[in-house]
Amino acid sequence: MANFKPQEYHESAEFLKSKIPFVPEALLILGSGLGFLADELENAITIPYGEIPHFKNSTAPGHKGRLVAGKLSGKNVLAMQGRFHIYEGYSPEEAAYPVRVASLLGAGSAIITCACGGVNKDYNVGDLALLTDYVNLTHPGPLVGFDISGFDARFFDMGSAYDKNYRALAKTIAEEKGITLREGVYFYMPGPQFETPAEIRAIRALGGDLVGMSVVHETIMARRCNMRTLGLGLVTNMAAGILDAPLTEDEVLVEGQKAAKKFSELIKTFVSTAL
Ligand code: HPA
Repeated sequence: MANFKPQEYHESAEFLKSKIPFVPEALLILGSGLGFLADELENAITIPYGEIPHFKNSTAPGHKGRLVAGKLSGKNVLAMQGRFHIYEGYSPEEAAYPVRVASLLGAGSAIITCACGGVNKDYNVGDLALLTDYVNLTHPGPLVGFDISGFDARFFDMGSAYDKNYRALAKTIAEEKGITLREGVYFYMPGPQFETPAEIRAIRALGGDLVGMSVVHETIMARRCNMRTLGLGLVTNMAAGILDAPLTEDEVLVEGQKAAKKFSELIKTFVSTAL
């Protein structure tokens, strides 16, 4: 597996520093159907991924493939309108690459959002869910073979993949705003096919509440970079086999639009309070 060199991370960061006149406090990764939030940034500077050295291109539906830097709720942030997935043919390190670049720019927090399937039968389509933890049984992480010469130690703790205080704050905000906010374990599956009903039963038996095709590689990289993380999923469909209906790509994007108001309310208030 080809790995990036420390120099390449620095080249990406130096390029972005030449374009962005501030130090971002957080990186916001906006998942399928959730990229609209980047359009709400003030004084926005938009940089297509294709212009950033060593970045890949977004090919997934609903992923515009650009980095937007600007102010959200008065805080300087970087927002990714689209991410890189393993199912697009990218390696775990490529999927997580922008996270370390954001860390080099000074971002101390990562807000990682995603569309996901609801495995927990108590959940409903359209629910927002805080990620309490994740399970990844299918892929090596982004740091396998990582060139640590320019960076940090190889082994590190993953006892708090998602920051406890951030989760508590998000829950308080949701309560105040009357937004239903679930909490659960995210189970990573590489896709691009949706899961089989048998896989979903297995995931439930193994403790998964949500299932999705992203998030974990970015989370690992963020923790490696000592960033504080918030994981937020939107349940765009009940996972395979729960309802008697085939899963489609369209419902993922449609539910994103429907949840736009509460999703952006929650994130904006979180950003103004947490950062
Ligand atoms: N499975 C995996 N990823 C997803 C799903 C799902 O059911 N819904 C949205 N992303």
